[in-house]
Amino acid sequence: MSKFLANVFPEASAVPEKFNVSYVEQREYLINGELKHWPGALNKVSSPVHVKEGNQYSSKVIGATPLLTSIEALQALDAAVEAYNLGHGLWPTLSVSERIKHIEKFLSMMRLQREEVVKLLMWEIGKPLKDSEKEFDRTCDYIVDTIKALKELDRNSAKLVEEQGFMAQIRRVPLGVALCMGPFNYPLNETFSTLLPALIMGNTVVFKPAKYGVLLIRPLLKSFQESFPPGVINIIYGKGRDTVGALMETGKIDVFAFIGTNKGANDLKRLHPKPHRLKSILGLDAKNPGIVLPDADLDNAVSECITGSLSFNGQRCTALKILYVHTSIVDEFIKRFVAGVAKLKPGMPWDDGVQLTPLPEPGKTDYLRGLMENAQKHGAKVVNEHGGEILSSFFYPAVLYPVNEKMKVYHEEQFGPIVPIVPFEKDEEAIRYVVNSNFGQQVSIFGSDSKKIASYIDMFTNQVGRINVNTQCQRGPDTFPFNGRKDSAEGTLSVADALRVFSIRTLVATKSTDANKQIISTIIRNRESVFLSTDYIM
Ligand code: G3H
Repeated sequence: MSKFLANVFPEASAVPEKFNVSYVEQREYLINGELKHWPGALNKVSSPVHVKEGNQYSSKVIGATPLLTSIEALQALDAAVEAYNLGHGLWPTLSVSERIKHIEKFLSMMRLQREEVVKLLMWEIGKPLKDSEKEFDRTCDYIVDTIKALKELDRNSAKLVEEQGFMAQIRRVPLGVALCMGPFNYPLNETFSTLLPALIMGNTVVFKPAKYGVLLIRPLLKSFQESFPPGVINIIYGKGRDTVGALMETGKIDVFAFIGTNKGANDLKRLHPKPHRLKSILGLDAKNPGIVLPDADLDNAVSECITGSLSFNGQRCTALKILYVHTSIVDEFIKRFVAGVAKLKPGMPWDDGVQLTPLPEPGKTDYLRGLMENAQKHGAKVVNEHGGEILSSFFYPAVLYPVNEKMKVYHEEQFGPIVPIVPFEKDEEAIRYVVNSNFGQQVSIFGSDSKKIASYIDMFTNQVGRINVNTQCQRGPDTFPFNGRKDSAEGTLSVADALRVFSIRTLVATKSTDANKQIISTIIRNRESVFLSTDYIM
């Protein structure tokens, strides 16, 4: 056992009273506006926070969730299909202003659950308190911004367009039934950044919470139930292969919003019998490189690379997962990087100022140890003190140098606290890594020569979705487009883009003759149509 870590986690069982959780046996799930009771088998929720009993650390079991089967999953789907009712249901035909009222009600009820959800974020996925609060608040802001963006979209669509002798009105309408699934690292924010836009655009939804970070949806079940008409949002639990596979096979899913691995996405997509009818919005794997050029401001590069690679223990799809550092500065870079990593505070999620916390995935520390040993076998060293030391579910960050293409960590997305550093001499070496990679989410370039930076930018514009200059990779601000190339994503998300991906433009058009103009203006004046209307929300 690591002595250093045993000192860091001396009294793991001493949890401050206000952060304590009691065991929750969840048996409810939401179908057709009804919170149903599940009498069957349950899935144990084990916390990444391990508690000390005697000299042993063991995972604290904080609750259990329903292990539903394909039968309940299909009931949820039936409810969503019925609520959509081939586009004639109440929800898809409701006016935008009415739909917004439902979302606002949900948001105000959700805000009341902040403390509970934040606590569960810490216990279920080990996210530090500050980051858990940020995730909750960012999600609420996202919903507020989504409402604002929809009002703007609605205002712009209220105008009639005149073009080449035609007059038309173009509006965005829903696509149908959406299946929304989020990731464990942002079980609230990432999930809701597809779920809420899907709902607000008039789709009906089956939502399956992430693998970990699942109990934290429970405090919101009532808010969902009371804010939406029956069947509009249905929430199911259980193993993916038993539940969502069956949904896909029906061919009744019209939109698939999924944040996870490209393998998972492919496996599910290919179950749909009519793939051309399935629209997918996917956030997938990534291996974003940071490239540090000889003239980079080293203090800035080091600090951005540390947060970029290690915030939330490197468990962000946008994390910097490999660093290319020019040979002329690599020694100094490593010296400062390692000193910076040593300042990161390890501990429990609720500890003041904590930055490094236990990992939620069972077996993850073994996987990371395997990556580290494989790199060592091929010539890399762990260059930071305590790097790679393990205590139960905690893995102390390992900075590996020099990394080369023979090592697994050069290719695989570690999604954890390992920082591989590759020394490079010629620009082509770093460029080749990006061009040949199967991933294409983002890249960061650190340097000060504008010409050199410009040439890197132009090399990468057709490779990745975002090029960051002297800044770590990240998703935010949420109004910026968030996407990726190759195996990293399908579709683009942002506050405004999400409204587009969950809808399709439909138009009413006619030749601008006097008779047609007369009909159109009568419909509008007498408010005879919901769609063909110049009304808009302020
Ligand atoms: O895990 C992927 C997230 O979208 C990353 O978002 O860059 O704001 O941490 P972030």
